[in-house]
Amino acid sequence: MKVLLLGTAAGGGFPQWNCACRMCTTGLPARTQDCIAFSADGTNWYLINASPDIRAQILAAEQLSPGPGPRDTPLRGALLTDAELDHTLGLTMLREGAGLHVWAPPAVLHALRQDFPLQRIVSHYGAWTWSPVAGSFTVDGLRIDILPVSDKKPKYIESTVEGPWVVAYKITDPAGGALVYAPCLKTWPPEFDTFIATATCVILDGTFYSPDEMSTATATGVPSPAQHAMGHIPISGPTGSLAHIAAHPGKRFLYTHLNNTNPILDPASPERQSMLAVSAEALTDGAELTI
Ligand code: MLT
Ligand code: MN
Ligand code: ZN
Repeated sequence: MKVLLLGTAAGGGFPQWNCACRMCTTGLPARTQDCIAFSADGTNWYLINASPDIRAQILAAEQLSPGPGPRDTPLRGALLTDAELDHTLGLTMLREGAGLHVWAPPAVLHALRQDFPLQRIVSHYGAWTWSPVAGSFTVDGLRIDILPVSDKKPKYIESTVEGPWVVAYKITDPAGGALVYAPCLKTWPPEFDTFIATATCVILDGTFYSPDEMSTATATGVPSPAQHAMGHIPISGPTGSLAHIAAHPGKRFLYTHLNNTNPILDPASPERQSMLAVSAEALTDGAELTI
């Protein structure tokens, strides 16, 4: 299976347009908002999440170039991990196509009918299909498994429907190899260890390096509990994701959804070195993986 890291930054991207924090002003390489594309055969491609940067991301990836017919595209569908705007707005940018098959948890599909009526909006432009995810299913011969990971709702949600609001996906190629994509992980649930046990590569929520990063980096007075409420497990600390990664030697871990405050954006930072020490990586936009 082929996987393209189309974007690797959190909502707002890197640098963020309204941010003058140290990281945003040091001239480090820009990153677009996180999403990936995967393909069993290199011909049909499926997104996991659709970032507001999707147009630029598609134009930058030759594997996603249109053709062979004048209005053909290799993009066939999208799986959504959640209903956050940085993971769903991109679907509106894909309205020029014939429509996609979208899979998402029931609460997310509800949000995209009720709170942010994306389904109704794009239905006027093409033939879209919306499938709730539950249990396991297959996409182009690849097996997809789902793990609910949190009930963190996007800020804009007014509905009171039951979650899960956030899931992780595992894509298993019967020919060998499995990828887990979990860009929103509020905590590390015990079931997550079992879920990733059969994965060869895990792409993880790397929003924040430390639990108090927002208040330190941006002087916005976002205290640690408020940062935690944003639904992203920090990388460092005794309960951070690095500590959990250490229990899975030999497995490949990549961080994505990097917030603009995260010091690992700087390859020369001690924080990046601490991550590399447990073999976790922070590949840049455009990286292609063969899983
Ligand atoms: C998040 O990841 O916490 C959200 O995407 C925040 C946002 O609305 O950008
Ligand atoms: Mn986000
Ligand atoms: Zn910043």
